[in-house]
Amino acid sequence: MLRGLVQDAARFIPKMDSFQKSLQKLKRDFPWLELPLVSNAPMSGFAGGDLAVAVARGGGLGQIGFTGTVGGLREELEKVKKNIPVESGNDESTAVLPVGVGFIVVNGGPRIWLDTLTRYRPAMVWLSFGGGAEFQTWASAVRAVSPNTKIWVQIGSVAAALEAVTACKPDALVLQGSDAGGHGHKNGASIISLLPEVSDALEQRNIDDVALIAAGGIADGRGAAAALMLGAGGVVMGTRFLAATETVFEPEFRDLVLSAADGGVSTVRSRVFDDIYGQNGWPEMYDGRCMRNAMYDNLEKGLSVEEIRDQIYRQASSSDSTSVRDSVTLWAGTGIGLVRKMESATEIVRETQLQMKAMVGGINAVVNGSQNHPSY
Ligand SMILES: Cc1cc2nc3c(=O)[nH]c(=O)nc-3n(C[C@H](O)[C@H](O)[C@H](O)COP(=O)(O)O)c2cc1C
Repeated sequence: MLRGLVQDAARFIPKMDSFQKSLQKLKRDFPWLELPLVSNAPMSGFAGGDLAVAVARGGGLGQIGFTGTVGGLREELEKVKKNIPVESGNDESTAVLPVGVGFIVVNGGPRIWLDTLTRYRPAMVWLSFGGGAEFQTWASAVRAVSPNTKIWVQIGSVAAALEAVTACKPDALVLQGSDAGGHGHKNGASIISLLPEVSDALEQRNIDDVALIAAGGIADGRGAAAALMLGAGGVVMGTRFLAATETVFEPEFRDLVLSAADGGVSTVRSRVFDDIYGQNGWPEMYDGRCMRNAMYDNLEKGLSVEEIRDQIYRQASSSDSTSVRDSVTLWAGTGIGLVRKMESATEIVRETQLQMKAMVGGINAVVNGSQNHPSY
């Protein structure tokens, strides 16, 4: 019965174009990677060279987060250079260091970074938190100094996706859904609708050669397999990698992540997590998803940001886990409830890959009848 329904419905099923095109594009851009792609988010302050190397060892695309300083970035890139060979595809002129580097473009222009990009030639540069003009400036500057570096842009709405594509023709769009940890669009959808809507919008405009990647709330192979169904060629995970041994993370904060459950309740989106530090430089269109704590609860109760700040200072002397949680901004996504143990990023990538492929294969086998399934 189910098989009949599926065959009958084939006429109405959207083409697998988005997934296939994304996969093909990723294969051309990064021929050494295991696909569908698994990558760590370039989490500023958390994702350094060690994490990028460990992810690369698992067959994924490792990324270094925005370092804020040129010297800091060089240090992290050196770690990669020492530990994994450049990918040359037998041609030195196209050699790249097989990792990505994240830049938060709202922080400023590309000029100070170009020498470093020329010298290290990362396989990919990830641009986030900007508009068409910033993406265009960054993409053309990076392409001028390192033509084989691919450009990825992370955005969180259909309009922003179209603006980015028009402005800088990125090699990949990372669709960041509202479940994502860290900063993101204040008004946004989860990847469940964001990804297919962007895919349709690009198709309507005959725009291809842009790989679509999903981010936000994906914490294991089940989420990754679902993202493929939505049309992504791979996934970026941030929160899951907070439990990787190679991530830069204080042990007491990691314990909070590992003990958290019920991700939609234990994390929340708000601007209070930036407001608390004084002048909030993030444009109004962004907020961020964090572990829910007293900062947010007190704001809800009607306390002013100044009152919340005073309270944090008063508590700062205590080191019990509740006051640690209440006095820090701990960026994390709804997938936090699925993050249960510390392990190497290499393992996380391998396990996610295996689960994702097994899930897709298993569903295919059941739906198409090569395995027993209940009759409906
Ligand atoms: C701790 C943390 C730090 C992050 N830092 C950055 C960043 O520096 N730049 C950026 O573009 N995105 C950043 N993000 C967002 C990620 O790029 C990505 O969208 C997100 O991690 C995906 O959702 P997930 O955390 O549910 O996997 C960060 C996310 C987390 C959890």
